[in-house]
Amino acid sequence: MSFNNLDTLYRQVIMDHYKNPRNKGTVDGDHLTVDMNNPTCGDRIQLQLQVNDGVVEDAKFDGEGCSISMSSASMMTQAIKGKSVDIALKMSEIFSDMMLGNDVEDDTLDLGDIEALQGVAKFPARIKCATLAWKAMEKGVDEEQNA
Ligand code: FES
Repeated sequence: MSFNNLDTLYRQVIMDHYKNPRNKGTVDGDHLTVDMNNPTCGDRIQLQLQVNDGVVEDAKFDGEGCSISMSSASMMTQAIKGKSVDIALKMSEIFSDMMLGNDVEDDTLDLGDIEALQGVAKFPARIKCATLAWKAMEKGVDEEQNA
């Protein structure tokens, strides 16, 4: 597939998550809530996580933001649901690497739609948009582990 076709495909994946967000809403039952905003634009996300025995059993988000931040939140919640906290943090590490423009080939983890965001690395001003939900997840998990 040519780079242009790949860019088009990735753009479609991003817009699909933006227009039809996965896991938008609130978690039923016990959960932790993390609010985070992007200081450069004021956009915000609220992330709710249900973590039991080290596994992210549910993840939902709400908020207001650009297509990159909201699609990234949708992809992130989709990726971490049902995964262990350790895997979720590993994915976050890989995503940060991706945003630095590093090669993130990792056969042990299926990043799925998240790969569609790799082009954001070329636009430094948008990296904070893409990492907003991931930073919220890291903060929530950290609070959970240190509770
Ligand atoms: Fe605000 Fe992207 S412009 S999060």
